Amino acid sequence: MNSPIALITGGGSGIGLAVAEHLINQHGYRVAILDVDSERVKRESERLGSSNCLGIHVDITDYNQQANAFIQTFEWGSNRLDLFFANAGIGDTDSLYLDAYGLDEQTGLPKPLDLRTVNVNLDAVIQGIHISRHIFTEKNSKPGGKIITSSSVVGIYANHPMPLYSTSKAGVVGLVRALAPVYLKDKITINCLCPTLIETNLMPKHMVREFHVPEETTPISTALKAIDPVVQDHSLTGQIMELTLNEVVFKQKPEYSRKNIKWMFDQSEMWERVCAPVGESSFVKRNNADTIVFKGLPRKPGDNAAYIKLPTEESF
Ligand SMILES: NC(=O)c1ccc[n+]([C@@H]2O[C@H](COP(=O)([O-])OP(=O)(O)OC[C@H]3O[C@@H](n4cnc5c(N)ncnc54)[C@H](O)[C@@H]3O)[C@@H](O)[C@H]2O)c1
Repeated sequence: MNSPIALITGGGSGIGLAVAEHLINQHGYRVAILDVDSERVKRESERLGSSNCLGIHVDITDYNQQANAFIQTFEWGSNRLDLFFANAGIGDTDSLYLDAYGLDEQTGLPKPLDLRTVNVNLDAVIQGIHISRHIFTEKNSKPGGKIITSSSVVGIYANHPMPLYSTSKAGVVGLVRALAPVYLKDKITINCLCPTLIETNLMPKHMVREFHVPEETTPISTALKAIDPVVQDHSLTGQIMELTLNEVVFKQKPEYSRKNIKWMFDQSEMWERVCAPVGESSFVKRNNADTIVFKGLPRKPGDNAAYIKLPTEESF
């Protein structure tokens, strides 16, 4: 079977599941759905059928579990991976406003924050992107692939009731914008969905009943609408796509406030030389000469970033 292969985290429910079905039915993909909820993943993968769908019970915060799921998917897909949807997410797991879990008896200080929100929504997404990049560039017989992430509009505008969630989602937006120019050179596109409110299992049922305002709720079909251009256009990358009611809006990068800030961002070759992505050892001086072995970037300084054309404030 030579169908394109996708791996979707949080694929047992909501947006991840809808995208899995859409990729299978509209784009001819075979899809692995990963989820920490074992019942969901079993039920939904059986419903979608074993030739189209591989269900894997995984907690993505465990690096080895996520990595093994990538290997399993790659082998199930006859040694190919075309699309990684880093989608699993959870709400705030602790409070930055009070001592929700009490005080440590010895120190009298708050117990450490439960940062699972950041572990799932950001750390595991970064690790997943890291693994998928390796597969796309080193293992695929035709190098390249697509990454889509699930952030949120609260990752753009922030929201006081969910500071940990907002922070994790803002991290995803920053990550997509930072990686896109370099990944494009390796034929990898990376884009980001920022839903407004879509009714899924993420919202407790009683809350949905109490506050439900149908005309302010975004249908899940808008997420599918955003997936289509990403799947079809191999140059669409670095996009932060707001999903709002029936519209997909390309959210622009903020304008530089001052010329000097723009100047700093224009100096990418300088930053590639100065920054140390793998610690101080990224610069190795040989024989006191100026030869630099640069470990953290795939190409020599100045040759790593592709120019990305950003659509103007358009929507579709
Ligand atoms: N629904 C919305 O209104 C909305 C708005 C903005 C952003 N989002 C984001 O969209 C993404 C999908 O959310 P959804 O609304 O479909 O929610 P959902 O709860 O229906 O689905 C998320 C899935 O992720 C799984 N998951 C959670 N932790 C996991 C882990 N550690 N390992 C593996 N799987 C795990 C859950 O079991 C669940 O099946 C999330 O990242 C969410 O933050 C949703």
